[in-house]
Order: sequence, then C-alpha cells, then structure tokens
Amino acid sequence: MVSKKKIYAEVHFTPSQVDEMTLKDKNVVVIDVLRASTTVITALHNGAKEIIPVNSVESVVKISSSLFGDVTLRAGERNGKMIEGFNLGNSPLEYTEEIVKGKSIILLTTNGSPAMVKGRHAKNLLIAGFVNLSTVVTFLSEMQNDFVIICSGKESRFCMEDAVCAGRVLNMLKENDTLNVFTDDAGETAMLLDKHVGKNIAKMIKHSEHGKYLAEIGFGDDLKVCAALNTISLLPILANNIIRVAKEPLKRTA
Ligand code: MLT
Repeated sequence: MVSKKKIYAEVHFTPSQVDEMTLKDKNVVVIDVLRASTTVITALHNGAKEIIPVNSVESVVKISSSLFGDVTLRAGERNGKMIEGFNLGNSPLEYTEEIVKGKSIILLTTNGSPAMVKGRHAKNLLIAGFVNLSTVVTFLSEMQNDFVIICSGKESRFCMEDAVCAGRVLNMLKENDTLNVFTDDAGETAMLLDKHVGKNIAKMIKHSEHGKYLAEIGFGDDLKVCAALNTISLLPILANNIIRVAKEPLKRTA
C-alpha cells in the first residue's frame, strides 16, 4: 500500500496573530478575498508586470520615486475607497488590460497588502482567493509540504470570507488521496465553516461584514467578481517583495 504524504497546515484568522520571523523559509498562503487577493490575481491576469505590496504611504512614495513614472501605478484604498492622489483604488473591476498591461503596481490596502508584506521572508508566498482556488490547491498538492495560511481578516479581526476560503483549500486537499492533511483548531473550524456557509459563496460574501460595507459604499459589483470560483487559473507568488505570476519550473521545486 502506497503511504500517504503527511502535511501540516497552520491557519491564522488574522495576520496580527503571526510574528513575521516565524514565517521565515515557510510556505505561506495569503488570503484576502475582499478584495486585495482578487485584485492582485486580476491585475496579473490582465497583463500587469508585477505588484509591489506595501504597508505604508511612505513606502508608496519611496518606491514610486525609484521606478519609471510612466510604467508605475499607485494603487490602494482606505475605508474601501481610492487613496487621494493614487491612480487606482482596490476594485478588481478597475484593473482592466487597457490600464494595467505591462505596468508595475504599488499596492497599499488596509488588510491584504500588510499581510503580504508580513510574509516576505517566506520560502514561497502564494496569493489566494476564490478566483484562483483550484490553481492554489494544485500547487499545494504537488508541493506535498507543510504550509501556513494567513487570512487577512478585517482590521485584525476575524472575517468570514477569508476563513471559508481557507477551509475550502483544506477540504479540497483532504480529497487528495496521496496526502494526509493535518491542521490546527483554526483549520478545523475553517473547514467546518466552508462545509456550512461555503455551499453558496456569493451569498456568504454578500452577508459578510465587509461585503455589506462594500455594497453600501457602491462596490456591490466587486462581490460577484470576488465570489467567482476558479475563473482565473493563475498563481501569484511573492519573491524579493514583488508579486509576479509563478513560472512553471517553480511549481516543481517548492
Ligand atoms: C484590504 O486589503 O483591506 C481589503 O482588500 C480592503 C478593500 O476591500 O479594499
């Protein structure tokens, strides 16, 4: 009988629970369904060259002054709305091919980009959402190695959509009969949540705290985009503080 590969998945419902040095040389998955993950995946899908996640306005100014102005976009939000003086907000619908193709995008958001920055010492840092879920699960299945999931949450608090997405990753990996997936209580809870409220992702997102807020401030259309399961088969990976599309050889060497 072929023995199953034992892998352990550690889950954090907010980045505030994690000391960034504990992520050093680990495989990390950052989830921010609403909306930073979905925006990053969509931008790369529409031809953006790279995304540079940051966690302060000062970093945006510093980095954009060192890059060529005509190929660099400042992007991000505060309270869900575009930051004054920036080129783009954080709605995935703004990141059309016409606007982002060939561009370097510096991204500053409230929860997602700081979570991505927190994982910068990781061996592999993947960006996940519902839009690229199967691509992420395939990578983790092939990698056959322990990993850490960081849910971006909402201002250091739990958020439903990220936890359900984390649960879906684990539930899908558990179906892989070459793997024996173990996880912690946060992981077990995320899997239960997915089994209960993950059946209708669009409904779950619509009723989530941040989903309701985004709809209130006029970004209701973003919810459908962020809930669209497996619509983009792309794996964004962070290396040297820059997120680009993962190249094939990488997938085998993880
Ligand atoms: C975040 O990263 O905090 C979120 O993506 C906020 C938002 O909805 O834009």
